[in-house]
Amino acid sequence: MAGDATDRPGEARAAQQRLDALLQEDRVFAPAPGFARRANAADPAVYERAERDPDGFWAEQAAALRWMQPYAQVRSGEIPHVQWFPGGRLNVADNCVDRHCDGPRRNKAAVIWVAESGETRTLTYHRLRRDVCRCANVLRSLGVRRGDRVAIYMGMVPETVVAMLACTRIGAAHTVVFGGFSAEALRERMIDAECKVLVTQDGAYRRGNVVPLLQNAAEAVRGTPGVSKVLVYRRVGAPALQADLPAGMAVDWAQAMREAAAECPCEPMESEDLLYILYTSGTTGKPKGIVHTTAGYLLGVATTHRLIFDLKEEDVYWCAADIGWVTGHSYIVYGPLCNGATTLLYEGTPDFPGRDRHWRIIEEFGVNIYYTAPTTIRTFMRWGTEHPKSADLSSLRVLGSVGEPINPEAWMWYHENIGSGRCPVVDTWWQTETGMIMISPLPGLVPTKPGSATRPFPGVAAAVLDEAGNPVGPGAGGNLVLTRPWPAMLRTIFRDDERFVRQYWSRYPGKYLTGDGARVDADGYFWLLGRVDDVMNVSGHRLSTYEIESALVDHSGVAEAAVIGRNDALKGQAVAAFVTLKERGAAEGGAALKAELQAHVARKIGPIAKPDDIFFTAELPKTRSGKIMRRLLRDIAEGRALGDTTTLADPSVVARLKEQYEEGE
Ligand code: WTA
Repeated sequence: MAGDATDRPGEARAAQQRLDALLQEDRVFAPAPGFARRANAADPAVYERAERDPDGFWAEQAAALRWMQPYAQVRSGEIPHVQWFPGGRLNVADNCVDRHCDGPRRNKAAVIWVAESGETRTLTYHRLRRDVCRCANVLRSLGVRRGDRVAIYMGMVPETVVAMLACTRIGAAHTVVFGGFSAEALRERMIDAECKVLVTQDGAYRRGNVVPLLQNAAEAVRGTPGVSKVLVYRRVGAPALQADLPAGMAVDWAQAMREAAAECPCEPMESEDLLYILYTSGTTGKPKGIVHTTAGYLLGVATTHRLIFDLKEEDVYWCAADIGWVTGHSYIVYGPLCNGATTLLYEGTPDFPGRDRHWRIIEEFGVNIYYTAPTTIRTFMRWGTEHPKSADLSSLRVLGSVGEPINPEAWMWYHENIGSGRCPVVDTWWQTETGMIMISPLPGLVPTKPGSATRPFPGVAAAVLDEAGNPVGPGAGGNLVLTRPWPAMLRTIFRDDERFVRQYWSRYPGKYLTGDGARVDADGYFWLLGRVDDVMNVSGHRLSTYEIESALVDHSGVAEAAVIGRNDALKGQAVAAFVTLKERGAAEGGAALKAELQAHVARKIGPIAKPDDIFFTAELPKTRSGKIMRRLLRDIAEGRALGDTTTLADPSVVARLKEQYEEGE
């Protein structure tokens, strides 16, 4: 709940001590003069100018897009129902592909793909345009029209990028579902978004194994009457498509693309037309369909990408996230391609075939900008420096971090061992809902402090508020809010505007509630402290405690479940579940049942949501009104002294639970 930041004094104290230590050591990294001189954002006045006239700043940036019809206004509407660039018309595929084909980028690599097997494929902008056109024509032939929704359930292959851009070309919206989600999760999202067509692939490679995407997809469409066709890209060479899908549903990607025309005009879209829906976990059991629209989103991701990563024409840029998450949408596909960049796409995991895989890729392709998550950086730390040391990483210029707070130790390791102490590290804070990076250094202008995302992007306004809505003083913790609309902001939750208003805009009227805790130091630097609501962040994957609880109680043996994210040195957070059983006593919940429950959660949501710990208990600590006290469960799981237990119906429950938990460890 929103007050939790202050409910966790132990953590807050630890964070404060860390911060004090860092400030004492004065570890502040000023931009190197050579870098600063050549930086895309080199004039410090940009902050002040954007602050004075934010709409003017965004209008200036908007000149970099190709418009089919000029907009009438930069912004209109009342918070939170804001429109950006009303009256304007443009097309995202036109901006991300076609316009680059009209000039010297025509033969530039748009996408460099590295398969897990080592095979590579490069799509130039010209070639990408032809594939996007073909795919757009295929989608049309399958009945997709402007305004329709298409589900995409694929792995990290260029065809995923092609399918997304093909949707935007014909004015259809996509909803990409991460390949680690289960059939049931896919079905739920396709039903909510009312998808007409599903694009998938037979299987995806992961550490040499095959993830059975088509099998999941087939299971999902069986319960989704709205989906009439499934376009299947054969990546692993499954012999038969029809076997898995109802008769007449499957369409073979390769064959359809061969037969399709390589020309297809771009639909002129309104600025505020739906671009995509991306489902994310919230504080209830039902995922939210976050709605992003056309002009503002594209502008937001392109501008931040160009300035924060200091993109140069000749750069090779690599974001190692998955396209199924917002980071992949904004910073593998739309931002980079809108800027005419070369974006590298890697299919596999960092440890296949060896733990030096990422460094080999950087060396082989001369990667200049590398963007990954703290959980991955901590994994690299554990693997040891011999792996990065064995590769030539001298092409690197800028390093990025995203997805969770980066601990100063990981920041320093990244800076020293990957960046040789010479590459600026940009810690970028944002969310599925914000669409674009909101808090991050501009690498040529802002001195960095390890562990701080530094300051809001020009034109963005953020604050840290106490429970009463007053800004907290330097060093104190509170709720991070965004106090001014921004172009890539979510417009609503699909088909649930009421939830949109309630969830984000009503805690502090007129301000956007992020759900994150933060503090601001005396220099105005933001230090992110993690979620303060019931959203967890496990290895950079966003999960909801309620979603996992619903999956657990769906099992016939479970009476009640409480799930929390406990601190984990590697994953950021790990999922811990406290479960009470029907009929049987807690003592009967053994290893077999634990494995069964883990498999059940994997089936309901996906392997990413499997609880790390399952603890069987006779009772859960509850308030007199019956609310489970998750805060106390967190204290138990993290081995802390119990916080305030006076509101419990029966304080002895939690004391017993703590004893049992410690015995069980
Ligand atoms: C967390 C991912 C600290 C945060 C782009 C946020 C971060 C949630 C950072 C959104 C960062 C993301 N420092 N925390 N640099 N970046 N987060 O929607 O808790 O998957 O609310 O978007 O990740 O996760 P989402």
